[in-house]
Amino acid sequence: MSGIKLRGTGHCAPERIMTNTDMTKIVDTNEEWILSRTGIETRHHVTGERHLDLCVGAAKMALEHAGISPDQIGACVVATLTPDDLVPSAACALQRELGLPGDIPCFDLNAACTGFLFALHTMECLLAASPRKFGLVLGCDVLSRIINWSDRSTCILFGDGAGAAVVEWNESFETIHAQLGCQGDDQILHVGGVGHDRTSVLSMDGQKVFKFAVEAVPRCIDQVLTASDRSIDDVDFFVFHQANARIIDLAVRKYHIPPEKYYKNISEYGNTSAASIPIVLSELYQLGKIGPGSRVLCVGFGGGLTWGGALMEFA
Ligand SMILES: CC(C)(COP(=O)(O)OP(=O)(O)OC[C@H]1O[C@@H](n2cnc3c(N)ncnc32)[C@H](O)[C@@H]1OP(=O)(O)O)[C@@H](O)C(=O)NCCC(=O)NCCS
Repeated sequence: MSGIKLRGTGHCAPERIMTNTDMTKIVDTNEEWILSRTGIETRHHVTGERHLDLCVGAAKMALEHAGISPDQIGACVVATLTPDDLVPSAACALQRELGLPGDIPCFDLNAACTGFLFALHTMECLLAASPRKFGLVLGCDVLSRIINWSDRSTCILFGDGAGAAVVEWNESFETIHAQLGCQGDDQILHVGGVGHDRTSVLSMDGQKVFKFAVEAVPRCIDQVLTASDRSIDDVDFFVFHQANARIIDLAVRKYHIPPEKYYKNISEYGNTSAASIPIVLSELYQLGKIGPGSRVLCVGFGGGLTWGGALMEFA
């Protein structure tokens, strides 16, 4: 047996808050439609802040909360699809800013909104082979940079933010039972890059993503419970990717999850992509809803298509 546990969490969001009323000044929409179809009331969008500033804010909070100094970190993985630069990676920039050791792997990983869970699994593998037993995992996205402001069905959904976790690896810890998957599809959700079309604008078929998510979320929950030989009642808290309140509500109803065992912050943040799950973890810790000993089942899905679940414990 060996695995990782959460030691500290942190999050950071840009100062500027965009309300639904602000959205009505940009596209043909209304507050009632946005709230009832998505659960979103506000989202944070960068003005002067860099992606790196959000990463630094979240990472410092997680390190402080964990009581770990940068020189104890054995690897740093940033899940993102919107770094400031392709090279250096966000993780390399963070290594410089935080003074992380120079002899550790630091790199970015893109699994869209599921990225944080892919990064956690990657970190579990990296730390097993590292002499240093603490790792820094981030999800950070600045989706306001790639919003298509002429598409009213997508531009209202996304916000910017960063979430971070310091994790500890130990031979006696249980694995996180990460269950991850992909299905290559460039029609349902697409962001161009430095390839053939060079347009970094997000396009999405919302209804198809909705259908995919409603099927993927319970599948991930079932897979993690089976892999860990646990039942719904063994889970202290469910952390869902915050893409649409209705997707969370459907999962909660299916499993009869009581209100004190899940959390929604989509009304404040919108969909922050890879940052969504770690921001929730950090807020839950701050609110005292989870803490040492808590067992948390995280579920995510996103472009790629990608999906995943993991069972995390707080050390
Ligand atoms: C995007 C999403 C909110 C759209 O909601 P929906 O209920 O599927 O809405 P539809 O696309 O069917 O559109 C319904 C109507 O609302 C209209 N509409 C779309 N966006 C609107 C907006 N911002 N304001 C007002 N009306 C809007 C459409 O034009 C359509 O009008 P019509 O019936 O006259 O043609 C929803 O599909 C969704 O959340 N999907 C999942 C997206 C997701 O999770 N993405 C992230 C992946 S990590």
